[in-house]
Amino acid sequence: MSGFGPGVDRSAPAASAGAFADSRPPASDRSGVGSTGPGSAPAVPSIEFEAVSFAYPDGTRALSQIGLRIGSGESVAIVGQNGSGKSTLVRHLNGLLRPTTGRVLLDGNDVRPIHVARLASSVGLAFQNPDCQLFSGRVSTEVAFGPRNLGIHGGELEERVRAALEEVGLDAEASTNPYDLGYSRRKLLALASVLAMRTPILALDEPTTGQDARGVARVRDVVARAFGEGRTVIAISHDMRFVAESFRRVVVMREGCIVLDGAPDVVFGEAAWGELRASYLEPPLPSVAGARLGLGATVTEAAFVAALERRAGTISR
Ligand SMILES: Nc1ncnc2c1ncn2[C@@H]1O[C@H](COP(=O)(O)OP(=O)(O)OP(=O)(O)O)[C@@H](O)[C@H]1O
Ligand SMILES: [Mg+2]
Repeated sequence: MSGFGPGVDRSAPAASAGAFADSRPPASDRSGVGSTGPGSAPAVPSIEFEAVSFAYPDGTRALSQIGLRIGSGESVAIVGQNGSGKSTLVRHLNGLLRPTTGRVLLDGNDVRPIHVARLASSVGLAFQNPDCQLFSGRVSTEVAFGPRNLGIHGGELEERVRAALEEVGLDAEASTNPYDLGYSRRKLLALASVLAMRTPILALDEPTTGQDARGVARVRDVVARAFGEGRTVIAISHDMRFVAESFRRVVVMREGCIVLDGAPDVVFGEAAWGELRASYLEPPLPSVAGARLGLGATVTEAAFVAALERRAGTISR
């Protein structure tokens, strides 16, 4: 146990955006997030996008006036149609991209003058395309690269590599060449490389793409664990089931703008279906089925089954 709060009560109702309350102590009271060694305990910075617009050099306008605040320790899924600006948005978190206009702030500090290498100690970004991230000829060397750049060496480095590979189920592949792994396992390797850095903020760009049920479950566990430890977890996904089950807040993007932002039962609730479908998104099946059967907001299978059981109990009594 890393000394963080009591972990995540998944049965608790998801908190609303902007008023993210959970049972954990404030991040500033937790220790060990992103720790670089015994005794060091950097807090988890808040994130703020302040009227951020971004255009690529060819003139493509990818973000328009984004205003978004993500508090310390939130779990946020970003969803939206292809090309809506999701990846562009998260690439602003670690300085890979800088706003054309507007500001990105970490704990109130504009990140513009902060070098990418320094931002890397706060934000770990797992790329959408792992092949843009991986470069080493050996799995263990790949995973060691990030933490080594943060100044981690020796036994601590070995332990981080071992733990990160174990967390994604690649512990038996430490000596393998990453390019001998299939796409789905290269995705997991890219995730392990970021996990090994133990950054207070984790940003995962489509972590479940290409994963079978076991792979999705691993990613779900990674998200739950990081969130339970008090880190901020942000993930882009097209998998609404994963989003509904793993995140407390959902941000929907369309054409470079945020069009919905709230707890899963609100964003996937019937009142939002029109907006979702305008963004080429389908609400999770349990939401639709729950609404059709008059069961109320049932965004996850577990919530749907529980609501059905409650109704069955009421009928048989
Ligand atoms: N390097 C680039 N140069 C020019 N335009 C780009 C570049 N990368 C992305 N774009 C454009 O910027 C817009 C936003 O792209 P982005 O990759 O952020 O979308 P996305 O929501 O992540 O999409 P997807 O779901 O397909 O991953 C799109 O119009 C895309 O074509
Ligand atoms: Mg993308």
